[in-house]
Amino acid sequence: MALREVILLGNPILRKKARKVTNFNNPKLQQLLDDMVETMLDEPGVGLAAPQVAVSQRVIVVRLPDDEESKREYGDDAGVLYQVVNPEIIRESRDMVDGIEACLSIPGYFGNVKRHQSVTVRGYDRDGKKIRIKANGWLARVFQHEIDHLDGVLFIDRATEIWQMVNEDKAEAAGLYNLYNTEHDMEFEPGK
Ligand code: CO
Repeated sequence: MALREVILLGNPILRKKARKVTNFNNPKLQQLLDDMVETMLDEPGVGLAAPQVAVSQRVIVVRLPDDEESKREYGDDAGVLYQVVNPEIIRESRDMVDGIEACLSIPGYFGNVKRHQSVTVRGYDRDGKKIRIKANGWLARVFQHEIDHLDGVLFIDRATEIWQMVNEDKAEAAGLYNLYNTEHDMEFEPGK
């Protein structure tokens, strides 16, 4: 396994429509998934799409954290690792919910994005076996965010409001401080 570099906004790969995986019996796919999981956990992030590591293929990984607070918040969804190839949203709730999102490819920014409260995702596991995931709440949000990446769509395209992190005080004032620290644990970059 190895960490991969997460590419940033401005890199054209992030805006390309990613290609479907057709060959599952491929060590490169297994390596990609292993590396994506390792990179997501290392950053840390709650999800990662292959285009973010400069691979324009329809592959995502998702994992909500499983610390005590996350367990309270996410219940059984906490700590479950999803590795999905060719994911597709086949059902979505009519209910939409607001939520604050960030993206490893757009460090220092947050935005309010309306997402479906729940979605059903269909795809394949790393061995090419069909899988179906019913996701609700935050997990559903992460799946929608990651699957968007496969079509070159970023949360800033959908956000109704975007904030730039200038310093900790402003983040705290915006009520984002806890979210920022517990979920993303990134360094604040003054002036960025
Ligand atoms: Co993202």
